[in-house]
Amino acid sequence: MALRKIRIMGDEVLEKVCRPVEKMTPRIKELIGDMFDTMYDGMGVGLAGPQVGVLRRICVIDTDGEPYVLINPEILETSGEQTGNEGCLSLPGQYGQVTRPDYVKVKALNENMEEYILEGTGLLARAICHECEHLDGIMFVSHVEGELFELSEEDEEE
Ligand code: NI
Repeated sequence: MALRKIRIMGDEVLEKVCRPVEKMTPRIKELIGDMFDTMYDGMGVGLAGPQVGVLRRICVIDTDGEPYVLINPEILETSGEQTGNEGCLSLPGQYGQVTRPDYVKVKALNENMEEYILEGTGLLARAICHECEHLDGIMFVSHVEGELFELSEEDEEE
């Protein structure tokens, strides 16, 4: 496993629509491992294929010590609303206020290409929405209410 280079906003790979994964291969398995390493190294809670330059519908999420791989994710249901600060490893150090659903139900394949359902509230719901949008070339900045701002490291807990 290895760290991959994170693409930064402005890189056009972040604006493309990703292709679905049709079957698991050693190469994709390695990619998923690398995505987790890269996400943890960057202290992020989610990472999507395009952020490491791979236009495949794959994201990894870990908001609370529980790692999830979402392959070809499809949001089935959302409800409620939450407004809070959001950031992205492709826009280091910059945050913005974004309103997201407070509950999300998503269908995806795991790393064994088995279908599962993931339900999330709070930060997990936010991360699911954020990462799934990356797969359609959408960055969170398009939802930011007001200005982007910088947070000091001590404030980054959120
Ligand atoms: Ni992001």
